[in-house]
Amino acid sequence: MGRTTKIVLAVWALALIGAGGWIAQDALLKREPVMTAEQKGFFTTDAAAAIGGPFQLTDQSGRKRSSEEFRGKLMLIYFGFTYCPDVCPTALTVVTTALDQLGEQADAVVPILITVDPERDTPAVLKDYVAQFSPRYIGLTGSEREIAQVAKAFRVYYAKSPGSGGAPYLMDHTSLLYLMDQNGRFHTHFTHNNRAEDIAAAVRKLLANPPKQAANN
Ligand code: NI
Repeated sequence: MGRTTKIVLAVWALALIGAGGWIAQDALLKREPVMTAEQKGFFTTDAAAAIGGPFQLTDQSGRKRSSEEFRGKLMLIYFGFTYCPDVCPTALTVVTTALDQLGEQADAVVPILITVDPERDTPAVLKDYVAQFSPRYIGLTGSEREIAQVAKAFRVYYAKSPGSGGAPYLMDHTSLLYLMDQNGRFHTHFTHNNRAEDIAAAVRKLLANPPKQAANN
């Protein structure tokens, strides 16, 4: 049993105790999603090489976008949803800060938000949302099936979580930021423990040392 699992079980136990239960429930709504053992292990195994894959989704202007368009550029991909109360906005703000720190080098980076809530995150909703973070942002949505496929490729877990007291539902989701290289392949990932400086440094390093195949393209 992982530490996160223990914490989540502890929070559930608190919720079940009942007294002050609504406070515990509030904590539950804000908790980070629980990853399965398989997901926890993915970045420590050779399976890291298999994270990601080509995708075709719809952007905030209603245009079909393909991952192939971004060959030769780096992609910073985050899976989230626009109704997210705090985790997603925090992650996207960190990306914006990293892009600012990169200056002109940010032109080589495509920041992408892929929604895990296609039911509510229409292109129009995504358009207003991503504009808050950076004009560079591409917000992508699709059918339930398209989103399920791309999430599976990136080993992203997501599930609906009912809102309490008639509040709108939330989405539990894996909160990792993926840095994909010039060939569209997984390079590394960042968690909420990483600062914008870490992201900018990894981007600079990758731009200075592109993978071999990119040079041959
Ligand atoms: Ni979120």
